[in-house]
Amino acid sequence: MSVRSISKEALIGSATLGVVFFAGYYFGKKKSKHSSMDIFKSHSGAKDNPLMQYVLNHSLREHPALKNLRLRTMEDSWSFIMVASEQAQLMANLAKLIQAKKAIEIGVYTGYNALSMALTLPDDGTVIACDVNEDYVNIGKPFWKEAGVEHKIDLRIQPALKTLDDLLEAGEGETFDFVFIDADKANYDNYYEKSLQLLRKGGIICIDNVLWSGKVVNPAPDDIDTQAIDKLNKKLYRDVRISLSMLTVGDGLTLAIKL
Ligand SMILES: C[S@@+](CC[C@H](N)C(=O)[O-])C[C@H]1O[C@@H](n2cnc3c(N)ncnc32)[C@H](O)[C@@H]1O
Ligand SMILES: *[C@@H]1O[C@H](CO)[C@@H](O)[C@H](O)[C@H]1NC(C)=O
Repeated sequence: MSVRSISKEALIGSATLGVVFFAGYYFGKKKSKHSSMDIFKSHSGAKDNPLMQYVLNHSLREHPALKNLRLRTMEDSWSFIMVASEQAQLMANLAKLIQAKKAIEIGVYTGYNALSMALTLPDDGTVIACDVNEDYVNIGKPFWKEAGVEHKIDLRIQPALKTLDDLLEAGEGETFDFVFIDADKANYDNYYEKSLQLLRKGGIICIDNVLWSGKVVNPAPDDIDTQAIDKLNKKLYRDVRISLSMLTVGDGLTLAIKL
């Protein structure tokens, strides 16, 4: 996990058409520690980065329930593992673009991205939300309810690999439109392979943390997580089953589109 210091402070926005448009980020006492490899991520680097501030000021929109969930999550000591808001927004736009109805979230934490997905899917859409820790998820559930989309989130508390196998066994192969992989790094390749089986042609797998704070450039011999990520990055580059892009958004995000 890339440890970053996170601001607990609020964003101030104004509600327009039920959507909060950010007026700017307000940052707290903790100072972000940047390594030279750090890339743009709203809840770690924006304070010292006017260009990132500009990007957020001019693009980020956040549903009020998402904002409330984010602020609540910032009170948790693990908040640095939360998805970046601008990344969640990008993925929601991608899901919308391909008219996604069925999505899978591998690694839910407090459910920021699960909620963002649920908000963007049609009313009969579903996010299969996979996590092993229901305590984190319980932090987020009231906000799913606040947004009125909890019926679209199908929470499965068990190892994500088991849930993916259950879906395959239930005959749901090639029926999913969108997958976000954001759980334990050692299993990334397994998640990728099973997700590819569950995905329809033209569906998208988003893989988070593919740059791992820059550590992938020179993985240490004893750093199993970095090695797993680097290995998968190399495999995806040559994988003829997909087309891909590696984006420097957040901690690095690969889009793999099933051919
Ligand atoms: C980076 S966080 C997910 C962040 C989330 N996508 C968001 O929107 O903020 C990783 C999550 O993966 C979960 N996790 C770890 N190992 C897992 C496993 N084997 N199966 C399912 N979830 C797992 C952790 O409990 C944690 O909540
Ligand atoms: C972003 O918005 C905040 C709040 O309105 C403002 O203080 C800040 O100067 C803006 N920064 C940029 C680079 O646009």
